[in-house]
Amino acid sequence: MTLDRSIKIAPSILSADFANFGAEIEAIEAQGADWVHVDVMDGHFVPNLTFGPPAVKAFRPHVKTFMDVHLMIAPVDPYIEAFAEAGADMLTTHIEAGPHIHRTLQAIRANGVKAGLALNPGTGLGDVAHLLDMIDMVCVMTVNPGFGGQSFIESQIDKVRALRAMIGDRPIHIEIDGGVTPETAPRVVEAGADVLVAGSAVFKGGSVSEPGVYGQNIRAIRDAAEAARA
Ligand code: DX5
Ligand code: ZN
Repeated sequence: MTLDRSIKIAPSILSADFANFGAEIEAIEAQGADWVHVDVMDGHFVPNLTFGPPAVKAFRPHVKTFMDVHLMIAPVDPYIEAFAEAGADMLTTHIEAGPHIHRTLQAIRANGVKAGLALNPGTGLGDVAHLLDMIDMVCVMTVNPGFGGQSFIESQIDKVRALRAMIGDRPIHIEIDGGVTPETAPRVVEAGADVLVAGSAVFKGGSVSEPGVYGQNIRAIRDAAEAARA
């Protein structure tokens, strides 16, 4: 089966109202989100703390689409089973998170979930070539991970283009995470991305009582991205 390379908008609930996750997830899905992106941070691999497996498990029944769980933690291996059991559809691990990325990716798939590989802005593509048959997605970080609302790092566009060429016909998504807006989205899509994570650009100005703003924000990103393909 060929991979669905249509544009997918994946709002990051890091920018949602932390007192109201269930309703926030339902609101973004009703307003056109294709995936739900969950940023797991450990205060060690990145300088911020967010969700553990019990939180991910609590989100699960609210997610009707696809739960994309981005692990910004080290070590990773001791927590894979718990995040898989919590209901993640995909677990994305950082290539920088430990010395045994091959083993980590094997363990993710062995737990029955899709495997994503994330690269920090300072990381090159060299080692990715050896991992292509073990992954369903590469996440190119276009900010240094840890916080929402940072500025897009331009130098990553060339990395996306080179990655797209490296992937060829393989069924591997390219996700962009960080600083995605209607201005930056077309540039990464033109370079080869198909999954766009967006936190602040989706949630800004909206709320569960004004969810139409989420819809407008999602549409603005999607329209700009799709125009780059036309
Ligand atoms: C950053 C996270 C991102 C973040 C994106 O460490 O991985 O998913 O929430 O936020 P924005 O879209 O605001 O840059
Ligand atoms: Zn993320």
